[in-house]
Amino acid sequence: MKINTLEKYQASYKQGIEEPEIFWQNIANHFDWSQKWNSVCEYDMHEAQFSWFKGGKTNITENCIDRHLKTKSNQTAIIFEPNSPKEVATHITYKNLHQKVCKMANALLSVGIKKGDRVAIYLPMIPELAISVLACARIGAIHSVIFAGFSSSALAARINDSECKIVITADGGFRGNKSIDLKSIVDEALIACPCVQNVLVAERTNTEISMLAKRDIYLKDILSKVSDKHKAEPMDSEDPLFILYTSGSTGKPKGMVHTTGGYMVYTAYTFKNVFAYEPGDVYWCTADIGWITGHSYILYGPLLNGATSIMFEGIPTYPNPGRFWDIVDKFKVNQFYTAPTAIRALAKEPLTYVNKYSLNSLKVIGSVGEPINEEAWQWYHKNIGKETCPVVDTWWQTETGGILISPIPNISPQIPTYATTPLPGVQPVLMDDNGDEIKELEGEGRLCIKSPWPSIARTIWGDHKRYKETYFTAYPGYYFTGDGALRNREGMYRITGRVDDVIIVSGHNLGTAPIEDAINEHPEIAESAIVGFPHEIKGKALYGFVTLKTPVEDTEKLKEAINKLISSKIGPIAKLDKIQFTNGLPKTRSGKIMRRILRKIAEGNAGDLGDISTLLNPEVVEHIKNGSEY
Ligand code: WTA
Repeated sequence: MKINTLEKYQASYKQGIEEPEIFWQNIANHFDWSQKWNSVCEYDMHEAQFSWFKGGKTNITENCIDRHLKTKSNQTAIIFEPNSPKEVATHITYKNLHQKVCKMANALLSVGIKKGDRVAIYLPMIPELAISVLACARIGAIHSVIFAGFSSSALAARINDSECKIVITADGGFRGNKSIDLKSIVDEALIACPCVQNVLVAERTNTEISMLAKRDIYLKDILSKVSDKHKAEPMDSEDPLFILYTSGSTGKPKGMVHTTGGYMVYTAYTFKNVFAYEPGDVYWCTADIGWITGHSYILYGPLLNGATSIMFEGIPTYPNPGRFWDIVDKFKVNQFYTAPTAIRALAKEPLTYVNKYSLNSLKVIGSVGEPINEEAWQWYHKNIGKETCPVVDTWWQTETGGILISPIPNISPQIPTYATTPLPGVQPVLMDDNGDEIKELEGEGRLCIKSPWPSIARTIWGDHKRYKETYFTAYPGYYFTGDGALRNREGMYRITGRVDDVIIVSGHNLGTAPIEDAINEHPEIAESAIVGFPHEIKGKALYGFVTLKTPVEDTEKLKEAINKLISSKIGPIAKLDKIQFTNGLPKTRSGKIMRRILRKIAEGNAGDLGDISTLLNPEVVEHIKNGSEY
């Protein structure tokens, strides 16, 4: 399973493409299956149908936990580092984790959750989050983790879309010097969620909360009554493991569905190789488990490898911007994985915050979530990696389940800002404007993947048609990523960013449509268009062009109201940095908003708008360019 030389990478890559079934079968054989598969891979790229290890039966938690009990029962599986450095960390061994997950599994069963039921998890980064996710997987319930920064209406929409029977939440959560009242957000959401029968409540902030009789139960009360033994439910390879929502080009979030067998094999394999994980290493990914990075590379990938994985509740700048580096030294972290937005924010702080620490345990440092700019890459490489740790710039998506393009430490060449080469079994291609594959090595185009890999999402929950249309129709026969990329003459890939209506702000994917829908609900607003513009720390920030039904006096007040509305409909992560009220939006003759023009204006390149003669209303452009408002 381990790639330790360039020759091994090349041979694995070759076999992954030429004999994918043999290649993946050999990897799958490392895991415990109660029944072996009948076929390794069956697929139809046109119909978006995929199955991996069909007929096989396993339970991912047996592979994440039980399998390690013989040799690693006293090794730490998860280190929980609380928000405040004054609170002591918790070390959860594999044996403890087994007991806790079994208990939680029995708790879920005791409130009537069965295989196939959907469970919404809306928790801060506390151990109960990891335990709940694994407990769902253990009984075969489908977990749907919803990032605890989402608002009550965003939460309700996600709960209802997959008809979750239960919500697991906490009284509240800590983040920096703030605390968030999660339970009251859940209460508000559930007014609109008739499908939810129970709410299980973990205690974290010990704040006063309201508990609805019969519906709401404190976790500790039910955990105290159940056994810590549980036999994992055997799952088919293609049984859904989880749903995770991501933004798209309509207001409705897409519930990406990942299944059991292929996801297990792929996340385990990529974790081991991308981070060059060796037994005994301490690994830390700073993401939140509410996103795919946390699912695949805080929980499943590391635990499948019997690793020690850190879960951090807090933020990079609390109580000061040295917090990450303090944690690295405290636990002698060997592999560190974070997002460019965090790197940029910390790079702006005085270097004394870094230089106070030795960081000499680090062996590999990684980046994920958005393109990393050269300056941030260099700062990270020099000051954190001390010019000796390889930087793994890992490209992937919620839809891909695991990392598809990334350097392999100490084997692939390092090129700042390049995600470099595909992992074994992955065939990226670039498409030109005519929809043809760019055959030359050097080129720039839209990034597609030519053949399936084991952890490709199987569908969008309840809407296979949308899945097919979103990812498999733009370039028939290929998976379209929504990203642009370029390839250099060595065949290395550099991801240039989204080419669709998704904008990545501080590493969070935000669809423009749901934000526009939220704004347009305001009674004084006629129409709006959101575009991204470069931001020093966030990577991209949001710029809203908004037209009003009739001019208003107090535009500052209206701007505030717009951001309040966005916070309540989606969450504070989607707030606009700039708002410009305009007397119209540039439209094509068929009535489509010309976002390309708005993007140029927002980026400060209004001088270079190209041909606007095809617009229905070119006069609007002048008005917007002048920065005129009502
Ligand atoms: C972007 C996160 C450049 C990309 C794992 C992708 C990146 C989207 C990189 C998916 C990278 C992720 N370089 N861009 N190394 N990694 N992206 O679903 O636009 O939250 O399509 O998954 O993030 O974001 P998601």
